Amino acid sequence: MTREVLYWLNLEEGDVYVDCTIGLGGHSKTILKEKKGKVRILGIDRDEEALRVAKEELKEYEQQVTLIKANFKHLPQVLKKENINKVDGILYDLGLSSMQLDSPKRGFSFRQCGPLDMRMDSSQTLTAAHLVNQLSEKELECIFFGLGEERWARRVAKFIVEERKLNPLKTTLDLVQVAKRAIPAKFRRGKRIHFATRIFQALRIKVNEELENLEISLNSSLDLLRAKGRICVISYHSLEDRIVKRQFKKGKEKGLKILTKKVIRPSAEEIRANPRARSARLRAAEKA
Ligand SMILES: C[S@@+](CC[C@H](N)C(=O)[O-])C[C@H]1O[C@@H](n2cnc3c(N)ncnc32)[C@H](O)[C@@H]1O
Repeated sequence: MTREVLYWLNLEEGDVYVDCTIGLGGHSKTILKEKKGKVRILGIDRDEEALRVAKEELKEYEQQVTLIKANFKHLPQVLKKENINKVDGILYDLGLSSMQLDSPKRGFSFRQCGPLDMRMDSSQTLTAAHLVNQLSEKELECIFFGLGEERWARRVAKFIVEERKLNPLKTTLDLVQVAKRAIPAKFRRGKRIHFATRIFQALRIKVNEELENLEISLNSSLDLLRAKGRICVISYHSLEDRIVKRQFKKGKEKGLKILTKKVIRPSAEEIRANPRARSARLRAAEKA
């Protein structure tokens, strides 16, 4: 949704903006190209590998770009350290990058065998393997139901606990096999999404504390915007979108004006070119 991001951020020459999820640098590169390098970008990511790729991708604009390894929940501290008081734009493109998703060793994909890892920040100690092998059946059920909206949460949790008594779950495919046994066949076949999607989503959100980070960050980021500064958030599931909606609504008390009355969805053309974009929803707001 790069076109939409460009439109809604509405940056002008000389502006300073924060890309809170720089990822592989895609959005920021387009913005820099469009503005002929006349904006300054602070690019944040928790993932060191992503930052390495972004550095390479944005090499020709290195004078305009500062890349920082950080969790965006610490945005106020990051800006303070950079001696930046206010910014003209803030962008969040939540979720995973294609590199994270496609790399088996990161453990995010149920289609490829890899360790049950799922950490965005590889220096963190908590992994998905720890959760599935250590949490109680009830705790696992709550994660699958609360963060994955998984109908078969209770059965999957029960089957995991039974399995790990014999063999601890080590790989992504170990987990897929357990989910396959737990979810009745007629609910696995012919569905729009793979039967393990929600289980993987729930674990990933928990491992990376994605909802807490978003809530904390949005709560403080509105104060970091200059007058007429804009904030854009692209989310990929309803739990994230609900937080964005709530925080924007709360921001109205501080003079935030919601620009997208209805959530913006990717065009059919974009979904055809990149099916992973199908669940993206963009919301934008402006500081008074
Ligand atoms: C969808 S990708 C961003 C893709 C990017 N917009 C591009 O055009 O290449 C999301 C990125 O956000 C990062 N991320 C997610 N949560 C984060 C957090 N709390 N703090 C910093 N980075 C985070 C992930 O590591 C990932 O690289």
